[in-house]
Amino acid sequence: MADLIVGLQWGDEGKGKIVDLVAKNYDIVIRSQGGHNAGHTVVLDGKKYALHLLPSGVLNPNAINVIGNGVVVYPKQLIKEINGFDRDIKSKLLISDKAHMILDHHILVDQAREILRGKNAIGTTGRGIGPAYADKIARVGVRMGELRDIDRLMDKLAHYYEMNKGYFEYLGINTPDMNELRKELEFYRDELIGNITDTTKYLWDNIDKNMLLEGAQATLLDIDHGTYPYVTSSNTIASGALTGSGLPPKALEKVIGIAKAYTTRVGNGPFPTEDLGSDGDKIRKQGHEFGTTTGRPRRCGWFDVVAAKYAITLNGCDEVAIMKLDVLDGFDKVKVCIAYEKDGEKIDYFPSDLEGVKPVYVELDGWDGSEGVTDFDKLPENAKKYIEFLEEKIGCHIKYVSTGPDRNSTIIR
Ligand code: IMP
Repeated sequence: MADLIVGLQWGDEGKGKIVDLVAKNYDIVIRSQGGHNAGHTVVLDGKKYALHLLPSGVLNPNAINVIGNGVVVYPKQLIKEINGFDRDIKSKLLISDKAHMILDHHILVDQAREILRGKNAIGTTGRGIGPAYADKIARVGVRMGELRDIDRLMDKLAHYYEMNKGYFEYLGINTPDMNELRKELEFYRDELIGNITDTTKYLWDNIDKNMLLEGAQATLLDIDHGTYPYVTSSNTIASGALTGSGLPPKALEKVIGIAKAYTTRVGNGPFPTEDLGSDGDKIRKQGHEFGTTTGRPRRCGWFDVVAAKYAITLNGCDEVAIMKLDVLDGFDKVKVCIAYEKDGEKIDYFPSDLEGVKPVYVELDGWDGSEGVTDFDKLPENAKKYIEFLEEKIGCHIKYVSTGPDRNSTIIR
């Protein structure tokens, strides 16, 4: 049976910390969507590692890590990550033979298209995610299992580059040198072939084990339910984790939604509670809100109950973790968005188009000194009130409250 950890906002909620906290309880940790656009830093044996593709189960020497069929894999990055560890990672890693591969040209296409979009750029991570998923849906993608027969794969790619010649020329991208490409693919095969397997069958065969599905990106970046087109190219919500792993819906036991005590977003697109003034700057500074993958400063603003309720419903959350509460230390007042105003009307649901939406705020008294607190009752009174207010408004139990980056700075309620 599987538990799922899913982001409720626009990503970077701190899923990694909760996964780290609970990963030791799981036999199998699974990534089911996204690619190396995701990123979080973990500390293992005193050394820092940035994980982009590897599931966080690598923190637990006994856990099996699965890269599921729904992930788009850039083999070069995966090999780099594996080899960056002092510990043996490979013997506990399974990669779906159905997972699609990101090749260098996907990355070039992603970046070229962003430039062409000009002021309408999505603000992608430039990692080739969208183009790789687009090829998958257009049924011209290449899957990890195809590394088993390089001759056949090369024939297929020769045809692909021929078909896309005009498009690549338009984007100003060279098609790869086929000899170099073959060498690259052979390198991928030699490094990874022992790990490539039918992971869906593996998960079915191990359905009685404790599994953790580790969500990447977050609900509001979902290709269907997010703020389209300013989204990522996969289904980031709970149902996407099932498609992306092959687990049946009834295998899902518990869904834990993760949200920050405030909101951030990287990349472009609507963000009703964004604060462009000094409060937003203060959150960015106190929260070190700069991207793990791209280093970009994150846009910052207040907690949005309307968006959180939408995300909790879409994912069927059983419990919620509120992260980085301590970042709000030192504000006289904190704001919470409890409704939107759209076309002069007050609404309490998340509309399909956020164009023209304005937040309706309530202001609560601020606090100081929540950092590092591990007992809910020891939180400053107003911080407690803040959490209780959020809990009532979102209608879901807040089981975890994080009060600092350290694993121990966590309240479990
Ligand atoms: P892409 O996934 O690189 O195509 O980027 C699409 C959008 O998703 C952009 O706004 C990115 O900033 C955002 N995004 C992608 N991955 C992450 C993530 O792991 N955290 C936060 N935002 C992300």
